[in-house]
Amino acid sequence: MPTTQKIDIFKTHIAVNKQYVGGSTRSETNAQQLKKIYKLSSNENMLGTSPEALLSIKKNIHQLHEYNYENDLKFRHALCDHFQQSLTPDQFITGNGGMELLELFVRGFADPGYECILSSPTFMAYKNFAEIQGAKVIDVPLKAGSFELDVEGILNAINPNTRLLFLTNPNNPTGTFIPKSVTDTLIDQIPPHVIVVYDEVYFHYVTTSDYARAIDYIKQGKNVIGLHSFSKAYGMAGIRLGYAFSTPEIAGYLNRIRRPFMIGTLTMEAGIAALKDHAHIKKTQELIALEKEWLYTQLDMLGISYWKSQANFILFNSPLLPTMMAEKCLELGIMVRSGEVFLAPDCVRVTIGTREANKAFIDAMEEILSTLSKTLITKKNNHY
Ligand SMILES: Cc1ncc(COP(=O)(O)O)c(C=O)c1O
Repeated sequence: MPTTQKIDIFKTHIAVNKQYVGGSTRSETNAQQLKKIYKLSSNENMLGTSPEALLSIKKNIHQLHEYNYENDLKFRHALCDHFQQSLTPDQFITGNGGMELLELFVRGFADPGYECILSSPTFMAYKNFAEIQGAKVIDVPLKAGSFELDVEGILNAINPNTRLLFLTNPNNPTGTFIPKSVTDTLIDQIPPHVIVVYDEVYFHYVTTSDYARAIDYIKQGKNVIGLHSFSKAYGMAGIRLGYAFSTPEIAGYLNRIRRPFMIGTLTMEAGIAALKDHAHIKKTQELIALEKEWLYTQLDMLGISYWKSQANFILFNSPLLPTMMAEKCLELGIMVRSGEVFLAPDCVRVTIGTREANKAFIDAMEEILSTLSKTLITKKNNHY
């Protein structure tokens, strides 16, 4: 008999404050009338996809009619080779981009009653996934101004209900990094019931030697999960591929709860090929290193302050409200990202591109700043 009683079909413990909103895609912008749009809003690789990955997609296109579950193992073996056999295949977990893996970690370790720690401004998908799982999110913000990690604050925030600590190194959107001495001190003091998600998806761009990699801690047997993505330096954001690595115990558990057939055949083959495409990575790293310095100089000349970055983007203090700045840039054909969504309310993030794109961005900034100063002068004159 159908009941007339109203039954709540939605899980009541889920209190998501805000859905995570990614950067707009090219087709979603309302600047379609422009002849050229430079997309400097999602930290992609402007040199494009690894040519080796593209070749491998073409080579394997005939394989699509078959399930290729075993290929996950093939991919994990390729990852072992990439890591020079310092990890075993059972220490890797593969997924449809870093995002899917982050969701898996949260599903695996957090539930209502548990807590996850993050340090804003940062990649806020962590918060969204934790809230969907019903876990409580504790924000121990980065120190104002310097964006340094508040190690004492994090240690004080840990309690018996804490399960995950998200460390983003280098951090998105600030581009800042956590020095090795700091990660060493912090990770040494983390109790065994807390798992550190060490998100290093921008590691290819790091030039400082004062930087610890997730693998260093995993090899010491610490409860650390390293996260890598093919969306950044490999130029494969559209194909969705990422992987994580950890101790055999943690990785084994995550592999048992992950769903089968998680990544597609072409995606895996492309990933395996991209791992060997050292030339593309080198070219990308050289471009970013060179263009970062060029952009620093240009921003200095414009009097715009910014944070030195270890990634392929720069966060700067916006002379306008950041959403307004993003809109004005878009009108001039440049997509940038307002810092608001990351809890960096006065800032804008720009991805480092080719010289042509970076120059177009600087030209746009010059134009915006000159209109701004004209408006200010007019206002001042009217006042007198
Ligand atoms: C810090 C950080 N982690 C993880 C991701 C997820 O990347 P993807 O899902 O594209 O692999 C991103 C994407 O922007 C990111 O910035």
